[in-house]
Amino acid sequence: MQILVTGGAGYIGSHTCICLLEQGHDVIVIDNLSNSHQQALSRVEKITGKKLTFYQEDILHQTVLERIFNTHTIDAVIHFAGLKAVGESTQIPLQYYHNNITGSLVLLEVMQQYQVKNLVFSSSATVYGDPKQLPITEDFPTSANNPYGRSKLLIEEVCRDIYHADPLWNIALLRYFNPIGAHHSGQIGEDPQGIPNNLLPYIAQVAVGKRESLSIFGNDYATCDGTGVRDYIHVMDLAEGHSKALDKLQTQPGLVVYNLGTGKGYSVLEVLHAFEQVAKKAIPYHIVARRAGDIAACYADPHLAKKELGWIAKRDLHDMVSDTWHWQIHNPQGYI
Ligand code: NAD
Ligand code: WQD
Repeated sequence: MQILVTGGAGYIGSHTCICLLEQGHDVIVIDNLSNSHQQALSRVEKITGKKLTFYQEDILHQTVLERIFNTHTIDAVIHFAGLKAVGESTQIPLQYYHNNITGSLVLLEVMQQYQVKNLVFSSSATVYGDPKQLPITEDFPTSANNPYGRSKLLIEEVCRDIYHADPLWNIALLRYFNPIGAHHSGQIGEDPQGIPNNLLPYIAQVAVGKRESLSIFGNDYATCDGTGVRDYIHVMDLAEGHSKALDKLQTQPGLVVYNLGTGKGYSVLEVLHAFEQVAKKAIPYHIVARRAGDIAACYADPHLAKKELGWIAKRDLHDMVSDTWHWQIHNPQGYI
């Protein structure tokens, strides 16, 4: 199939491109490189030994999208492009709404225009807000308390409306838990700009000597050791989830929603200690106040994806931290 991947140069997109190319798909990437590097795509080609087509363009530009849909006979779209930093979204909400929501609307409109009705959308476990119970199943109530989360919820709703208006659409809303890790080759991985917001890149940068100490945001949560618990999932497992979702779309399922998580939660300290074992060094940390908006614990019930997609996360915490470390030590400055 010919797959258009928006945001394909980014962290999850680049890893997904590997899976798609390895499965023999033709991959067309559109990315404005606002949070990524073209080098990620050259490395994807090197790893797979296959070529992809890259457009350094913005999904907000309808005429550009039309040109791409005119040039290629696209069978399905995987839509990663978006801004993703929760804290930043509270500072510049309009940019988040414009980029994430308007960008998605433009894309969906062009898809409709060209009768391309197969879509995989990057949603997030953030749409569950602060869940009343764990593990989280797909039918849990949704909510959002920041512009980023609201943008994901709204796009999910837009997708539902499109499907209800025209049941020929097939849409998989994938709710990712906490993606970490890197391709096993150490050639591609997560390369945040500036100070990392997320736990794993921060730990990796402390371990490599780029930052002094990890601030742990609170140790007074009602969890095993007081630190926050999350469902960390290896980015290559996540990438494989997208291939399975594309397969599912071929069966014309209508609109489907899947959690992509492992079903296991690990605390900040557990992750830190796992990283120390792999890096064979102590990683300095200190406890600070809770981060606004954080919840105590969050992990998926991944059974629906197993049942309906035949997908399950295969890699464990050791794989996740060792692949992160491998990427970090081989690319201490990220892509440059
Ligand atoms: P990323 O920032 O690495 O990738 C997003 C890519 O989209 C970047 O390469 C960026 O340059 C591109 N982009 C942004 N706006 C664009 C636009 N208007 N036009 C063209 N390209 C644009 O982020 P990621 O971690 O790979 O996340 C991918 C998707 O998954 C995002 O939608 C994100 O919200 C979602 N998601 C991420 C996480 C996570 O923790 N990483 C968790 C849940 C959901
Ligand atoms: C994990 C744990 C922190 C950094 C975010 C988004 C979510 C999704 C994934 C996009 C928490 C603790 C972190 C640090 C710390 N993204 N922590 N010190 O907050 O679960 O989820 O990314 O959809 O929407 O909110 O991930 O990696 O930031 O935090 O102690 O320097 O690590 O408090 O318990 P989070 P995270």
